[in-house]
Amino acid sequence: MAKLFSNIGQLVVGTSPDTGELELIENAALVVDAGVVAWVGSSANAPAADEFVDVAGRTVIPGFVDSHAHLVFAGDRAAEFEARMSGVSYSAGGIKTTVAATRAASDHELRTGLRARVQEMHRSGITTFETKSGYGLNVADEARSVALAAEVTEEVTFLGAHVVPAEFADRREDYVSLIAGEMLAAAAPHSKWIDVFCDRGAFDADEADEILRAGVRAGLRPRIHANQLEAGAGIELAVKHDCASADHCTHLTDRDIELLAGSNTVATLLPGAEFSTRAEYPDARRLFAAGAKVALATDCNPGSSFTTSMAFCLAVAVRDMHFTPSQALAAATAGGAAALRRIDVGGLRVGQRANLVVLNSPSFVHLMYRPGVDLVDATYIDGNPVYEREK
Ligand code: NIG
Ligand code: FE
Repeated sequence: MAKLFSNIGQLVVGTSPDTGELELIENAALVVDAGVVAWVGSSANAPAADEFVDVAGRTVIPGFVDSHAHLVFAGDRAAEFEARMSGVSYSAGGIKTTVAATRAASDHELRTGLRARVQEMHRSGITTFETKSGYGLNVADEARSVALAAEVTEEVTFLGAHVVPAEFADRREDYVSLIAGEMLAAAAPHSKWIDVFCDRGAFDADEADEILRAGVRAGLRPRIHANQLEAGAGIELAVKHDCASADHCTHLTDRDIELLAGSNTVATLLPGAEFSTRAEYPDARRLFAAGAKVALATDCNPGSSFTTSMAFCLAVAVRDMHFTPSQALAAATAGGAAALRRIDVGGLRVGQRANLVVLNSPSFVHLMYRPGVDLVDATYIDGNPVYEREK
């Protein structure tokens, strides 16, 4: 059953691997067959199909690939945000508030919250997302966090190394051993990735190294939270382990940028985190000038970035991190896919999954040009709608 999307005012097909520029077709059509893109081209040449969707001149972009989120948690931290906006600074310690709420929550509560956030993501045009554990921080709660995450995505990350929980405050080596041993063994069957928050107030480079090595031995693939709160050894570690992605990258030295540019590790920037913690934004021009690969993600979590809106992140990235609109869209689609080492998503070339978003706008630039306005009319995964705006 071929499905033809016709009368597309502007189609973003993907990102050129040579120039990094977006490939656009005006007055386009796209055919989906068996969940994948079977044909793209000019509307005038569109082939016959069994089913039709008239896009009526609107814009179609590839579904966003959100390569960094923390969706399994209970409670919220609005009070912490309020205090921050009155001058209190962000610290990794706030994570413990969410750990207490998550441990106390039933499976049903956690699953309900998780599914609501996945729906929000679909409404925001996200069609592939990664999500992490990291608010359980004991064997049972980390294992249930990754098991719940695996119900909604294949991109599940074990983040037992988020912070050291209070009960291990005086014996952090024991907590590192627990993560690398029993906790990893319990989480690995549901996880694809291992992550460590390597930063001030979380884990140092030696601890992070030990945890990443244990994860890789257990068959997981490495990624890292690095340089959010200060420049440290996180980027060096990321490159040494061939991490798919080093995330945050708020504080980067010239050497960090050189290392990233010479590696296969994507630098994932998280504008929501700088926004919500009132931190300085990193300047993406430094990364682009060096030739590093760049992704943008929501970092949706209750502490530092409680948003599922990729459009919001794009607008901030353009306004405050100096992405061009094209670079920002590429970073949230193909860039996110690269940060998850995926080639089947992040673009709408023939053979890629038909994950696409219909925008109520004449061009993709409106995503950043009209901040705070919900432009997503419909989101499709494998050619099927997962969200359609009520008429
Ligand atoms: O990616 N940086 C570490 N972890 C999260 C924040 C978690 C929290 O504050 O609850 C982040 O920003
Ligand atoms: Fe994070």
